[in-house]
Amino acid sequence: MAEDQRKFIASNAYSLAEAYVLSKEGLYTPLPYAIYADEQMVGFVFAVFQPPDEQDPDDQETVFYLARMMIDHRYQGRGYGREAMLQLLEIMKAFQNGSAEAVVLSCSRDNIAACRLYQSLGFVDTGCLDEDGDVYYRLELK
Ligand SMILES: CC(C)(COP(=O)(O)OP(=O)(O)OC[C@H]1O[C@@H](n2cnc3c(N)ncnc32)[C@H](O)[C@@H]1OP(=O)(O)O)[C@@H](O)C(=O)NCCC(=O)NCCS
Repeated sequence: MAEDQRKFIASNAYSLAEAYVLSKEGLYTPLPYAIYADEQMVGFVFAVFQPPDEQDPDDQETVFYLARMMIDHRYQGRGYGREAMLQLLEIMKAFQNGSAEAVVLSCSRDNIAACRLYQSLGFVDTGCLDEDGDVYYRLELK
């Protein structure tokens, strides 16, 4: 990732630790994937399958939360991000442990490349902001 992109995303080491903790907790299913172009690792993507939390009456739907998506800066702008997202969406649609209503993610409006990528894949700006002021995007799966 380029230095000026670091503010947009946690480190991959942090994401892997998060995925490990989620897998131990058992409620959500972490789906971390390295992204390869042929033999070369070029990026990382991390989604989480989130069934409703029964302790939370406001949480009624099953979604995939796209927690992280990154392409190494040396390989950006070559279509790998889009291809990785398309393949991830296929994995989500074929997911064996259950089906989800939608894919959700949050993204800084300043992150022009990422916002354009998500919008070009059909994600819709919901207008809702998370605690960091990032906007939630949503793609219906059904
Ligand atoms: C966002 C990111 C994953 C895109 O990956 P990528 O492999 O460079 O993207 P692609 O080459 O597949 O491009 C797909 C689309 O993204 C958009 N895009 C990518 N780079 C862009 C740029 N520099 N400026 C504007 N739009 C851009 C375009 O819509 C592009 O489609 P187009 O080529 O038809 O115009 C990459 O920039 C990245 O890793 N950024 C740092 C981490 C990050 O911010 N992750 C998202 C957190 S929410």
